[in-house]
Amino acid sequence: MQQLSLLETNTSEDSQQVRAIELRHLLSHHNKLYYEQDAPEISDAEYDALFRELQSLESTRPDLLVYDSPTLRVGGTPLERFVQVRHRQPMLSLENALSEEEIRAFEVKIRNMLALPDTLSLTYQCEPKMDGLAIELVYLNGILNQASTRGDGEVGEDVTANVRTIRNIPLQLKGTDLPELLEVRGEVYLPLSAFQKLNARRQEAGESVFANPRNAAAGSIRQLDPRVVARRPLAMVCYGVGTIERGARGDGKGVRTQTDLINQLAEWGLPVSNETRTVNGVEELIYCFNDLQERRDSLQYEIDGMVAKLDDLTLQMELGAKSRSPRWAIACKFPPRQSRTKINDILLSVGRTGVITPVAILEPVELSGVTVSRATLHNWDEMRRKDIRIGDTVIVERAGDVIPAVVKVLEEERSGAETIMQEPEHCPVCGSKALRLEGEAAVRCQGGLSCPPQLAESVIHFASRDAMNIDGLGSKYIEQMINLGLVKDVADLYQLRSDDLMQFERMGDKLAEKLLAAIEASKNQELARLIFALGIRHVGERTSRILADRFGSIENLQKSTFDELTGIRDIGSTVAASIRSFFDTPANQSVLKRLEDAGVSPRSAPKQTGGRLEGKTFVFTGSLTGFTRDEAKQMVETEGGTVTGSVSRKTDYVVTGSDAGGKLEKARSLGVTVITESDFLGMLKKD
Ligand code: IVH
Repeated sequence: MQQLSLLETNTSEDSQQVRAIELRHLLSHHNKLYYEQDAPEISDAEYDALFRELQSLESTRPDLLVYDSPTLRVGGTPLERFVQVRHRQPMLSLENALSEEEIRAFEVKIRNMLALPDTLSLTYQCEPKMDGLAIELVYLNGILNQASTRGDGEVGEDVTANVRTIRNIPLQLKGTDLPELLEVRGEVYLPLSAFQKLNARRQEAGESVFANPRNAAAGSIRQLDPRVVARRPLAMVCYGVGTIERGARGDGKGVRTQTDLINQLAEWGLPVSNETRTVNGVEELIYCFNDLQERRDSLQYEIDGMVAKLDDLTLQMELGAKSRSPRWAIACKFPPRQSRTKINDILLSVGRTGVITPVAILEPVELSGVTVSRATLHNWDEMRRKDIRIGDTVIVERAGDVIPAVVKVLEEERSGAETIMQEPEHCPVCGSKALRLEGEAAVRCQGGLSCPPQLAESVIHFASRDAMNIDGLGSKYIEQMINLGLVKDVADLYQLRSDDLMQFERMGDKLAEKLLAAIEASKNQELARLIFALGIRHVGERTSRILADRFGSIENLQKSTFDELTGIRDIGSTVAASIRSFFDTPANQSVLKRLEDAGVSPRSAPKQTGGRLEGKTFVFTGSLTGFTRDEAKQMVETEGGTVTGSVSRKTDYVVTGSDAGGKLEKARSLGVTVITESDFLGMLKKD
């Protein structure tokens, strides 16, 4: 980790300033390692710790905040809609060349237009054609002022708040010869690994998945809430400029070619492609194109071709542009990575969280050098939309994802013998009921407590700190228990004996005893924790507490009706349906019975009525000094109030600790009452 030695100063105020500068340097250094060199030296958690330290410093000392602080990248408050922006110069598109012949034809055309002698070869600058979305950045005197989408080329949308969260875009340019106005154009994209993670997360959450990284990047940039964008690791690569106004700052004469221009952008600190090549003549250009195509699958991002630009800026000017595209550039497109094959069968795969995904079993086919025999069909909405049937002849595509997808069905190839795969009514693994909750794309197995693919996840959640809080029982042991066949559902935890645990790696008598004691102690956990521990979809800690207060025991909750549940404030029909479906599933009922037999008999916390904070909702933010979050929560709940994690119009009080950040800002903007820790304690004082 890079250490900066900065001058020690006398006052603590100054040392805070020095630390802020140091933190900004460190964050920018680690950002570079992460995004530009793909060689991080610190973990995400360490990065977050530095980030939070700077955030906290800046919130206590607003005078230390500078306009290019990395903390300004976390995203501001959500927008109602995007404002339209007219580009100073239209953002053009490119003409395509789909074969080597078309690339040669492009060269012949421009040679003729420029009336070049045969002996003179043309120099081109070549770059990957990034598969993302075009964005224009406007820098005023080196400071990022605005970012907009291409839109229709003339008018785009102002996405500045979102683009500020992209970590490889400088908020301030480097250097002294900065133009007064600089419009930089480039492509915003989502690296492949981030795309795969995002889709996996969405699939598990029952949300629709993005078809390719381009859709994911475009969908992210068009999010109205910049905080959502801040969590997606988008990146940008700059490939050109629009208007540049220099004022008195140099004449830019050193920049004569596209290659010079890209080097200049890089010198100003803007991200440019490290795959840029300058080539001489069309044959070299074609060689470069083929070489890039061969390496396409080894790149960390999705590209759909190579862009070749005439290198000489004077010649570019001479050729000019047609209405939609410049004459001096061409997009040399790769042939699509698609193949034609047949769906022999559709299987159902059950994921960690019970999501049931239809998977097409294909007649093996080669797709960009890899033999594929399976393709994800995502979910039934997708399958119905594309009308995919068993026996269909289909086009499969690898769109930046490792797992190929079915793009479309060749209906003309149908014989009539094809069969439709209906939504499953039961889990193919454990046989429990399968259900699709309102508003969800995914069908899920409801046997969460004992379905084998969901087992590890359900036991880890059951034992976790906010659930049954079984101290020391982490995923490492849980996986061993499952692998050894000792635990087939959460009730089995209470049957474990010392001998069983002694089979684990690095387990001693003492540790085994401690673990068994922790399991034993969890039998007396509160009812709300047990309800939460069951992992019922849509039933978080807050809902668990409401249910515990209302029903007092698992037996009563199990007997509750849908109408009774929806009659409770804060419980809607989706949550009620999920609760009913959980308790109606025989596999879950038998686990609950075995839990009860094992002595897991939760106490019901008496419902508080007439408490001092009855009906009031609190949010705690910043570092609290007088008590912990858990203690604060308990104090509020004892007095009949509720604690939530985020500020909304329904929040009655926001209690601020010493370094409150975004939640405080949001409270102020919504006009929610903000109080200090001691105000809060004052509210609890007996009179
Ligand atoms: S140059 C005036 N270079 O492709 C020419 N475009 O089909 C401006 N694109 O809208 C484009 N990578 O968003 C250029 N290295 C690259 C590119 C690139 C991707 C996109 C760009 C443009 C589209 C045109």
